[in-house]
Amino acid sequence: MSKPGNYEAVRKDIVKLLHQPEYDDGSAGPVLVRLAWHSAGTYDAETDTGGSNGAGMRYEREGGDPANAGLQHARVFLEPVKAAHPWITYADLWTLAGCVAVREMGGPEIRWLPGRTDYVDDSKLPPRGRLPDGSKAADHVRAVFYRMGFNDQEIVALCGAHNLGRCHSDRSGFDGPWVNNLTRFSNQYFRLLAGLEWKLVTLPNGVKQWVYEDEDGISERLMMLPTDIALRDDPVFCEWVDSYAEDKELFFEDFAKAFAKLMELGITRDARGRVTNADNVKGGYHS
Ligand code: HEM
Repeated sequence: MSKPGNYEAVRKDIVKLLHQPEYDDGSAGPVLVRLAWHSAGTYDAETDTGGSNGAGMRYEREGGDPANAGLQHARVFLEPVKAAHPWITYADLWTLAGCVAVREMGGPEIRWLPGRTDYVDDSKLPPRGRLPDGSKAADHVRAVFYRMGFNDQEIVALCGAHNLGRCHSDRSGFDGPWVNNLTRFSNQYFRLLAGLEWKLVTLPNGVKQWVYEDEDGISERLMMLPTDIALRDDPVFCEWVDSYAEDKELFFEDFAKAFAKLMELGITRDARGRVTNADNVKGGYHS
């Protein structure tokens, strides 16, 4: 067991588990990034509910939300890290793992601070349906991310995470990856979104998504969600899609800022960075 507060030791163990030859495309990285995002992305700024505090996905009420299908794999990958460092909260572990995975897959360093609690405050539990639905349009994307406190530029930057991983027909119903090198963080998602001709198709399960196939058919069939295409087609979002397609450094910088902000939703800190709203949550319980 590591010394409480030794986050470097936790980081190292997260790095070690990223290589998973038997799982998916050989990496736990993408699903860990999605776990971090879904743990935080339930936040509602107006009522100060949801967010990463509490690690509510451990329980059926949040974990069983169909939007979170597949994320049990990410949580299981992290169990040995939790066992080796039992002092870290799940809420800190999940958010840290997302940041470490982005960096290890070639992305930017993301500023991460500890202090989240595993107390579940019943009055802060998010209702289901707060995470975005990939089949919808730009107004839905804005409603979801404005609720968390993000602006149009931050929304586009965050969606650049679709450079990683894939859709799974048995999880979301959508199928396939956004880019060919799906365990390498880059701005390729924006380049393909802006640069290729996408075609709307209906999958055998009735789900509609956009696809691109190489003329020579060599690459895997790439895909875009309707919400991804909405970024390309919206007059404001598309400016940022183009900027990030042209400038990888700008994307990395903006992604790092927006992801760090996402991980902090619902966490309040004093001037020294100590969390002031986590340890004595009233009416909560501890795992
Ligand atoms: C995967 C939807 C924003 C990171 C997915 C999947 C869907 C989806 C449907 C496929 C899940 C599966 O079948 O396994 C959306 C929608 C978004 C959004 C509708 C907003 C409009 C984001 C953001 C991030 C993110 C903001 C992170 C910053 C990921 C990652 C995967 C993924 C890394 C791949 C997971 C894997 O390979 O297992 N997303 N997402 N997404 N999403 Fe998003």
